[in-house]
Amino acid sequence: MSERSRDPIPKAPTAALDPTQDPLIRGDWHAVARVQDLETTSQPVAVRLLEEDLLIWKAEGGWRCWQDRCVHRGTALSLGTVKESTLICPYHGWVFDAQGQCIHIPAHPEQPPPRRACIPTYAVQERYGLLWVCLSEPQQHIPPFPEWEDPSFRPLSSPGYRVRACGTRAIENFLDVSHFPFVHKAILGDPAHPVIPDYRVQITPDGVLAENVRVYQPDPYGTGVGDTVSYTYRALRPLTAYLRKDSAEQCVAILLTVTPHSEQESTLWMLMAMNYAHNTPAQELLDWQEAIVLQDIPILESQRPVQLPLDPQQELHLASDQSAIVYRRWLKTLGLQFGVLP
Ligand code: FES
Ligand code: FE
Repeated sequence: MSERSRDPIPKAPTAALDPTQDPLIRGDWHAVARVQDLETTSQPVAVRLLEEDLLIWKAEGGWRCWQDRCVHRGTALSLGTVKESTLICPYHGWVFDAQGQCIHIPAHPEQPPPRRACIPTYAVQERYGLLWVCLSEPQQHIPPFPEWEDPSFRPLSSPGYRVRACGTRAIENFLDVSHFPFVHKAILGDPAHPVIPDYRVQITPDGVLAENVRVYQPDPYGTGVGDTVSYTYRALRPLTAYLRKDSAEQCVAILLTVTPHSEQESTLWMLMAMNYAHNTPAQELLDWQEAIVLQDIPILESQRPVQLPLDPQQELHLASDQSAIVYRRWLKTLGLQFGVLP
């Protein structure tokens, strides 16, 4: 045996997975646009998801989501034109049918377009007034939001809020009530009442469930009187969470879902459903919600590291952080690679 043959077999380098290729996140549904915003135009709209450029357009028979790149010379098809359920590339006028197949090349009208002249397409669905896209084989359904479809509730959807922050940080912030007295003082909390009583959090087959999460609010029922309120929170997906606040007769539920443009850029979509205030103008309620989101954004954009550290030794954790602790533990159990640090 030569010296050389006794050398240990070198290990293949274990290449770190590109977080945007995480099968867990690519197999999930992501909201990319609000339908009411798309309906103001008949032309294609560019969206970015997990660092991929996509375009959304409406053909007869429904919404389409395609890769935003022409197979001829790589031009953005979102600059093109929709005409009678076809999409026309802005550069050389190739015409694509609703399935993404090129059906006409103006420079060679007699020549059948090659079969390869086909644009990659992605699954797209409309739900809760949002368009949801999945970049690979969907591994589950769009997250449930029963209050949105309950006729005794009034559904309200905000515009998307773009943030320079990671989606996992945004979900964790949504699950966190101990920031209410400081970030949302006079709206959701009161610095004179910052104590968060212990609450119960568990991992269930549907995700994380936190119950009876109590916090003092200065005027929870619009009566001018402060009271301690109780929330139920669920993390339904790594980038989608839900809350419900019940009192004697009033209930409000919110679904937050985050578009991961990249690990550093996200859009927050807040859907609210409430079984009261039916006569309050929708804009007034949406303005209230926007005021809260705009208070959260500078906090989210300031957080470092950008991704959520899953090692419990990183950052500090107290009993009032129990939702965050269990959310991080759940993400680790799932094996999430996107938006986290191991
Ligand atoms: Fe689209 Fe040429 S780049 S037709
Ligand atoms: Fe907040």
